[in-house]
Amino acid sequence: MSDDGLTWVKATTLDDLWEGDFVDVEVEGEVVVIFHRPGGELRAFQGMCPHQEILLADGHIDFDEGTITCPAHEWQFSMDNGSGINPRGCRLFQYEVKLEGDDVFLGLPTDGRLRRLRHEAEEA
Ligand code: FES
Repeated sequence: MSDDGLTWVKATTLDDLWEGDFVDVEVEGEVVVIFHRPGGELRAFQGMCPHQEILLADGHIDFDEGTITCPAHEWQFSMDNGSGINPRGCRLFQYEVKLEGDDVFLGLPTDGRLRRLRHEAEEA
C-alpha cells in the first residue's frame, strides 16, 4: 500500500495495544513506539531517543500528562506531537498512523532517509 510518499505497513493490532497502553515495534528496520491514548487516539513516534539512541519505551510514559521521558538522561517529549519539552529544540519524528478494523498501520516515509535523522529533518 503506498500513497503520498508513504508506505503503509501493519505494525500491530488493537488486541495488543489497548487504550491507555503503548507498544514498541520494529517495522522495516525502524523502532517505533505507538501510544493508544485514553479516549482512543493513536500516536506514533520514533522509538529511540534523539539524544543517544536509548529505547524510549523503557522510559516513563505518563498518559495523564501526555509526556514521554527517556530513561537515560530524562529528556522529555510531548505525546501530542513529539516536540521536546526539556530540552526544547529537539523533536521526535512522528509517524502517520491509521486503523483498518483492528489493524494498526504506520505510514513509513519512502524518502530513504534513516529514521534517526528524521528529527533533524523536521527541524529544518
Ligand atoms: Fe535519552 Fe540521553 S539518551 S536523554
